[in-house]
Amino acid sequence: MSDRMAASSVVPPAAGDGRSKDLLRFITCGSVDDGKSTLIGRLLYDSQLILEDQMSALESASRRFGTTGEEVDLALLIDGLQAEREQGITIDVAYRFFATDKRKFIVADTPGHEQYTRNMATGASTAQIALVLVDARQGVLTQTRRHAYILSLMGLRRVVLVVNKMDLADWSQDRFDAIAEEFTAFAASIGIDTVDAVPVSALTGDNITAPSDRMPWFTGTPLLPYLEEVTVAEDAANAPARFVVQWVNRPHLDLRGYSGMVHGGRIAVGDTLQVLPSGRQSTVTRIITYGGDLDVAMAGQSVTLVLADQIDISRGDILASPDTAPAVADQFAAHLLWMDDARMLPGRSYAIQLGTAMAGATVSRLKHAVDVNTLEHLAASHLELNEIGVCNIALDRALPFDPYKDNRHTGGFILIDRLTNATVGAGMIDFPLRRAGNLFWQPTTVEPAARANLKGQRPAVLWLTGLSGSGKSTIANAIEHRLFADGRHTFLMDGDNVRHGLNQDLGFTPEDRVENIRRVAEVSRLMVDAGLIVIVSFISPFREERLMARRRIETADFIEIFVDTPLEVCEQRDPKGLYRRARAGEIPGFTGIDSPYEPPEAPEIVLPTEALDPGAAAGKVVDLVRERGLILSNGWTLPSDPFAL
Ligand code: ADX
Repeated sequence: MSDRMAASSVVPPAAGDGRSKDLLRFITCGSVDDGKSTLIGRLLYDSQLILEDQMSALESASRRFGTTGEEVDLALLIDGLQAEREQGITIDVAYRFFATDKRKFIVADTPGHEQYTRNMATGASTAQIALVLVDARQGVLTQTRRHAYILSLMGLRRVVLVVNKMDLADWSQDRFDAIAEEFTAFAASIGIDTVDAVPVSALTGDNITAPSDRMPWFTGTPLLPYLEEVTVAEDAANAPARFVVQWVNRPHLDLRGYSGMVHGGRIAVGDTLQVLPSGRQSTVTRIITYGGDLDVAMAGQSVTLVLADQIDISRGDILASPDTAPAVADQFAAHLLWMDDARMLPGRSYAIQLGTAMAGATVSRLKHAVDVNTLEHLAASHLELNEIGVCNIALDRALPFDPYKDNRHTGGFILIDRLTNATVGAGMIDFPLRRAGNLFWQPTTVEPAARANLKGQRPAVLWLTGLSGSGKSTIANAIEHRLFADGRHTFLMDGDNVRHGLNQDLGFTPEDRVENIRRVAEVSRLMVDAGLIVIVSFISPFREERLMARRRIETADFIEIFVDTPLEVCEQRDPKGLYRRARAGEIPGFTGIDSPYEPPEAPEIVLPTEALDPGAAAGKVVDLVRERGLILSNGWTLPSDPFAL
């Protein structure tokens, strides 16, 4: 089996809720030296021995795993991987498949060091039980606590503590008891209710398949028999019914079905279901599967539902019973695990995948980070790779969801970088913050387009970006001057000026710069609604925020203008003497010196100021404004007067 597979972070590959009682999915975690690979190798090897014995007894050498149910389970695995590929996420998690005569197993092996948290979260999201390895000589380490904390965040409530390398600890009961006690106490403090500890030596095979003679004091079950027998609470079937829509299935005109997965409870023909977020209701008339129609679909099943009424349903919607429907909100509180090298900055806009729904999302507030050792709350303005934080997340539209503790499928999400499409965070929803119904969008009778029409122009944002001293302000001023002289309605926002008022509370940390640009983008949006041609002149050093601004200005032209002046030239000009001071160490975090500037990749206009004087540069911009037809002849029409009698 390939070591590198596409895997999802939070949405488990067909976790086999109700339909695979003989399949156990587990994850192994431990540091590099804890003997994880040896243990997995040992489990694979020993289980195969068992099977071979059994097979020779059956005189059947042709089928390696020899059970009829197997094809189904392999398909399950493949299905899951397809779902993950659909999400376009690639993470180093190797899923290994093995079986004994009692049970089949899928073990998520999560290698990797620097991206470990991310891999672990991925593996844990699909697991029913976790094995935490500890080296008997080392005992419980920071890493052990971190892993346990992530497991608990991912909703695992049952952990097997495997105390390995007992051969190197004199098979000592005292050592084992001490480690088990310490770990169990920590686990209890983070909500892991059940810890079963087993002392083993993966190397020598002691306590793997059979009780070890060398540890007669251990009266529990050896590891493999334990894994064969352990029952994991399958409460998905008793949970409130959830059907997550993947796509609208219209094979022919007479049939309109909704394909997706039951992620909790059961859904039967005749049930009344509510569609979230719309709130509409209808009755299930058919449940279609490849194998024929069903009367009832259970958690874990992929089916196509047909409803009695024609209602608008799309990908990402959740169908539920009206009396146990999930929350619909555009804000929630969540635990967030950061998985990217680039830090998480509150205010930055990301894409979110929640169930099968996609939307825009911002971390509106990072309340605190969590020290995984002490569980202390740490004040934090951002999250670094592998850090965990508690935050509020704001969506750009209301979505249905559950708290993660109630449903891992409808309460787990991933954040995606809009530029690179990389998964940058995995989150677990704690609770909704504001019901979508509490805030309304107030319609106004004078529409934005009418305001612009009255001014004989189309609104636009001319966004100048470039280093300090690149010439942005001078060029921006020249642009406004020309447009104004031409009778246009303009407004110029300049970084230095706005920072004296609206943004006087902000400094120059990356966090503050993100917020600086977010506010300016919002103000630009209001001015666009006012019908103005807005000229923005900010360093705006990050691509993400410029992209965010572009997305916010959806009803008008957004023209990104790169004032392209090399750093050396800016430094030479040094109009405010700031570069000199920055070089002298008096201004830490100065753009271009010790804070990054990310040049635009595809700006509408590039202005190389070494070759163009400010007048000529402004001319290029005004020409484009004309070409785009942003300036209309004064032929506006008055909107019909709703107050006329
Ligand atoms: S931005 O990075 O957040 O977009 P903005 O355009 O608002 O910056 O402000 C930049 C202006 O602030 C610069 O032209 C300069 O006059 C001043 N400034 C003061 N400290 C810094 C700094 N550390 N980095 C960049 N500009 C600074």
